[in-house]
Amino acid sequence: MRKTVYFIPGDGIGPEVWAASRPVLDAAAAKSYGNGRSFDWRELLAGEKALAECGELLPEATLEALRGAELAIKGPLSTPVGKGFRSLNVTLRQTLDLYACIRPVRHLKGTPSPVRRPDAVDMVIFRENTEDVYAGIEYEAGGAEAKKLLAFLRDELGARVDMDAAVGIKPMSEKGSKRLIRRAARHALRHKLPALTLMHKGNIMKFTEGGFRRWGYEVMEEEEFAPFVFKEDTAPAPAAGKLAINDVIADALFQSVLLQPERFSVIAAPNLNGDYISDALAAQVGGLGLAPGVNMSDRLAFFEATHGTAPGLAGRDAANPTSLLLSGVLMLEHLGWLEAAGLIRRALDAVMAAGTVTPDLAAQMPGAASTGCRAFGELLLRQVDRLG
Ligand code: NAI
Repeated sequence: MRKTVYFIPGDGIGPEVWAASRPVLDAAAAKSYGNGRSFDWRELLAGEKALAECGELLPEATLEALRGAELAIKGPLSTPVGKGFRSLNVTLRQTLDLYACIRPVRHLKGTPSPVRRPDAVDMVIFRENTEDVYAGIEYEAGGAEAKKLLAFLRDELGARVDMDAAVGIKPMSEKGSKRLIRRAARHALRHKLPALTLMHKGNIMKFTEGGFRRWGYEVMEEEEFAPFVFKEDTAPAPAAGKLAINDVIADALFQSVLLQPERFSVIAAPNLNGDYISDALAAQVGGLGLAPGVNMSDRLAFFEATHGTAPGLAGRDAANPTSLLLSGVLMLEHLGWLEAAGLIRRALDAVMAAGTVTPDLAAQMPGAASTGCRAFGELLLRQVDRLG
């Protein structure tokens, strides 16, 4: 089986981390399945390379290919200021309706962490990606639009508002919330995970965030889920093997994931909460620059490195390719190519344990030796070859 995967190397360090990652993905598939399973890689243009080659940051041909695709992977993209896009990434997510941003957070053996038990963190965040304050409905303080909207709020709805305020709108729909929560619940059930937590600030924002919580519990009553889940506070406790559903207010969740990380496994969150908790948890395992991610629509799974283009490192062979490589591992897992995924995880553990790592990690790991992005990729390849 040959799987077509569209790829965008990206800007800044993107091409370097991609060049180090792709051979490892190919080698793991070859080692695990011989000629039985492999990738048919097809490059798409986006970002600075697209601008240089065809005068556009996001050519229509790229969007057209992605609209029909099932799998894609990308490095980071920079958005040059004043070129017509707020952000290429946000544009891609909205145009392709990539409504679920999924970030697994797990400690990578050997990486330095600011907490005492980073290995107790094993969670997957499902963040809604298209609604909430990220919808882009925002008006500048003092502008005509803001004044018009504020006047409407004051005169028609009786709201107490400062007429000089900047205003943003927070749309959150039942449909948008439910499709994200269904996806999180399916993931938890498929992987036999113990708990699904709805993260919200519904005590204050009763209709938007409170709606997210209520719609979450409604989803759990649907035929697909009801027999397999139970509300955490149910008495007497139900039979083992069912998925526990609970909800936690956003600020309390930040405390709880630090103090009792073992209580949480899958977290479903609206856009802004999900953004915050994803980065906080990634930092908790020491891996803000190492964390993998995927954005999904109902058709396309678009895997991506979660860091930016790191312009200061670009072209210096000093970037860490782990985030993009682990995004590729998620793709292998998504395809069910579990042997190849496991092989890369073991190779990464072995390279970390041997203590020759990229400069970002070497600076924090006592006794570790520093190596370049390309050489780090070669060390991984050697381990894949040895362990496969
Ligand atoms: P950044 O993630 O590029 O850099 C933050 C810090 O992390 C820097 O010190 C950088 O050197 C370090 N770093 C990041 N990735 C690394 C890696 N793989 N290995 C070693 N060190 C690494 O974030 P920043 O500086 O805020 O953004 C730079 C550019 O990236 C901007 O144009 C931004 O728009 C874009 N960006 C793109 C994203 C995407 O395509 N998904 C996500 C975030 C930012």
